[in-house]
Amino acid sequence: MESFFSLKGKVIIITGATGLLGSQHAEVIAEAGGNPVLLDLDQKKCDDLALNLRSKYQVDSVGYKVDITNEDAIVETLKVIKTRFNSIYALINNAANNPKVEDSSEKAFSRLENFPLSVWNADLAVGLTGSYLCAKHFGNLISQNENGGTILNISSDLGIIAPDQRLYRKKGLPEELQPVKPVTYSVVKAGLIGLTRYLATYWADKNVRCNAICPGGVENNQNEEFLNEVRSRIPLGRMAKKDEYKGLVLFLLSESASYINGSIISADGGRSVW
Ligand SMILES: NC(=O)c1ccc[n+]([C@@H]2O[C@H](COP(=O)([O-])OP(=O)(O)OC[C@H]3O[C@@H](n4cnc5c(N)ncnc54)[C@H](O)[C@@H]3O)[C@@H](O)[C@H]2O)c1
Repeated sequence: MESFFSLKGKVIIITGATGLLGSQHAEVIAEAGGNPVLLDLDQKKCDDLALNLRSKYQVDSVGYKVDITNEDAIVETLKVIKTRFNSIYALINNAANNPKVEDSSEKAFSRLENFPLSVWNADLAVGLTGSYLCAKHFGNLISQNENGGTILNISSDLGIIAPDQRLYRKKGLPEELQPVKPVTYSVVKAGLIGLTRYLATYWADKNVRCNAICPGGVENNQNEEFLNEVRSRIPLGRMAKKDEYKGLVLFLLSESASYINGSIISADGGRSVW
């Protein structure tokens, strides 16, 4: 079985690596013998996670502080990674701004009528521009491998369905103050699906596969009222646990997925089929 899913010695870049799901991607890569390269905004968090992975799994993990909206910073980081590892096998475009709509009731900034252009620009800069820049530079290096490699984009169930804004309603607030899931989330996550299809063909002749996963929401201390509403919209009747995407991520990175390219794979408890 090991040969199906081994990532032994493979260097895999994860953006937003110290976040809730990024750290899970990093963990499964290390468990499978790969070398996770952690990119995020906080050097200490990157160092702590890399140290933990090195000591727990005896792999070569390292973390770099890099803002993926900054092309110069990406190019610099690429140089450092190239010096240390020579080549990269894979990239996971995982970083995103995750606005907490639940906290927005005072200003109702999340509503489309009020949504600030600055927030639109900032959200697209991380989720879309950052993914394009990482694909441009890290993907280019991956395409130079003799046997190619792979890119995995982390989209969302909201990349393929509209947010159900009734989920975010707060009792007692007038209509114009009701919080909503920001428009940028849908746009970024749908955009990543376009990027996935583009990249799936772009370096296909170099054996670089590109796929996207569309995870459903992870249970993470949301209030009980929200949880009950969400659960009622999911055929499996619950949100995901944070480690429930590890198997899918490992599979798509591994040789077992060698013929899977351009796929948009839902992992949402059935949410998007209802
Ligand atoms: N958690 C969920 O319920 C859920 C569901 C579906 C999809 N997703 C997607 O999964 C991915 C990870 O989500 P998460 O829950 O771990 O979010 P998170 O907020 O915990 O992690 C995101 C990470 O991205 C980093 N980041 C933000 N801007 C950056 C930048 N400019 N440069 C580098 N790093 C940057 C943050 O510092 C953070 O560590 C996101 O793309 C998210 O949209 C999450």
